Amino acid sequence: MKKVGRIKGLMLMAILVLPLVVVGCKAAAPTPATDGTSLYNYITQQNDYHKWKMWPGKQALYPGTEPHGALLTTYVTDNAFSAIDGKEGSIPNGSIVVKENYMPDKTLAAITVMYKVKGYDPEHNDWFWLKYAPDGKIDVSGKVDMCYGCHGGKRDNDYIMTSPLR
Ligand code: HEC
Repeated sequence: MKKVGRIKGLMLMAILVLPLVVVGCKAAAPTPATDGTSLYNYITQQNDYHKWKMWPGKQALYPGTEPHGALLTTYVTDNAFSAIDGKEGSIPNGSIVVKENYMPDKTLAAITVMYKVKGYDPEHNDWFWLKYAPDGKIDVSGKVDMCYGCHGGKRDNDYIMTSPLR
């Protein structure tokens, strides 16, 4: 009898606790792994970047410079938005910046992404870099020297080009 009671108790606990665990995991949407496909799936499916805020002070299709494209639309996660808007001096871990690069005729040419992951690449402020085509084909990803080579000109601005962080 005692044993049955304990099993019942365990079952009851499982029924009560499991949904909480599932909901808890969902709420703290895990950030993507550091590989191109995981990051791509995350920003296009799990946490569609089109629903994010745009870079503070920038509208869709603002003029860009070489090499990214004539017109740019840049989205940021909330933690990045607050840091940029609040002039915090750097972008926090877990932030993602997604920039759509358009041709002068407004055709989407490529998407470039920066994703900050604590400990990923301490020599270059822990940025993970990704560039992919509009059809989703990944061009480059990871520690891409071509990307941080140029962005490194703004090392004192956390490798960020678009606006001063202070
Ligand atoms: C030759 C220099 C250069 C190279 C190479 C370069 N970028 Fe950029 N990047 C810029 C500039 C300049 C901006 C600011 C937007 C603009 O005016 O085009 C920028 C902006 C960005 C932004 C918006 C956040 C920010 O830093 O302002 C992202 C994201 C980005 N680049 C990703 C990449 C990725 C990924 C690569 C490599 C595939 C790359 N960039 C290579 C110069 C470069």
